[in-house]
Amino acid sequence: MRFVEAAGVRMSAIGLGTWQFGSREWGYGKEYADHEAAAIVRRALELGVNVIDTAEVYALGRSERIVAAAIEDVGRDEVFLATKVFPLFAFGAVMAARARASLRRLGVDAADLYQIHFPNPAIPFGLQAAGLARVLDDGLAHHVGVSNYSLAGWRKVEDVLGRPVLSNQVQFSMVRRRPAEVMVPYAASSDRVVIAYSPLAQGFLSARYGPDNLPGGGVRRSNSLFSKDNLTRAADLYDALRDVASSHDAEPAQVALAWLIHHPHVVAIPGASSVEQVEFNAAAADIVLGDDEFAHLTKVAEEFTPASRGPLGRLVRT
Ligand SMILES: NC(=O)c1ccc[n+]([C@@H]2O[C@H](COP(=O)([O-])OP(=O)(O)OC[C@H]3O[C@@H](n4cnc5c(N)ncnc54)[C@H](OP(=O)(O)O)[C@@H]3O)[C@@H](O)[C@H]2O)c1
Repeated sequence: MRFVEAAGVRMSAIGLGTWQFGSREWGYGKEYADHEAAAIVRRALELGVNVIDTAEVYALGRSERIVAAAIEDVGRDEVFLATKVFPLFAFGAVMAARARASLRRLGVDAADLYQIHFPNPAIPFGLQAAGLARVLDDGLAHHVGVSNYSLAGWRKVEDVLGRPVLSNQVQFSMVRRRPAEVMVPYAASSDRVVIAYSPLAQGFLSARYGPDNLPGGGVRRSNSLFSKDNLTRAADLYDALRDVASSHDAEPAQVALAWLIHHPHVVAIPGASSVEQVEFNAAAADIVLGDDEFAHLTKVAEEFTPASRGPLGRLVRT
């Protein structure tokens, strides 16, 4: 396993996302929620993954409970436990109360990272920072972070808080490359971390779906990347992923993750539908792309121009 070290923490470059655990949006079913999910967490930890990311909103707390059961017998210092507060009425003492509720579900005294799930423009930065300060001062989390913030927003929270805001969790993958422009350089030069969510673009970058093989329902039905048009357009990108994968004796999904963690100070948190996937994902940390491979993958990714959905839900061709 490779690690990202920043601000005194050591986070595995590949973590584990747990939105899938028990959530209807993914629709993996009862057997998955009752058994497979915990097995995924335990296997991830065995393989050196320490970052486990959850949120109070995932399956309305069930994801946190599943994680709690899975880590019950694991040394607390083997897990870097990250959760998030849904920013509705979440400021000051309310944020601390919500953090306490998360910790009860997680079965721990403190989270390693407590993140604001997304910016709520109705809550001024001062109140957001006051909530995070309370969480830190009450010992409910060792570090705080934000998610879905712009770089300016991230820095503003840190300025107002007057203490480090360790990380910003943002959508970042080969098909959503914007964080590479200024967010990642900032993290690398400021001892901060970019946590990449949807690092496989919800499985799109596994190269195993196609116009005649669409993923099952749930969240991906509303993701325009999985339109037949976009899956057809992705042919060259998929070929490039397969080519690089074959020279590393790896899978396309692993190469997509290796591309992400080629960037400094980036931790990727793929979700997994099986123990086998988490094994592949953890092993991706050991794939080191050559600079030529990285440049080639970036170029092919830039050439992929997906159609997006317009206001009426129709695909807009670009
Ligand atoms: N902060 C936020 O606002 C936010 C938003 C979204 C997600 N997140 C976090 O980020 C985590 C990951 O993002 P995500 O779940 O949206 O998308 P993702 O990690 O890009 O995709 C996960 C899906 O990809 C497929 N997959 C995983 N590993 C694979 C492998 N080795 N080979 C082939 N397919 C593989 C699986 O689906 P199938 O097997 O069914 O194809 C899996 O459910 C979430 O669990 C959550 O913790 C945060």
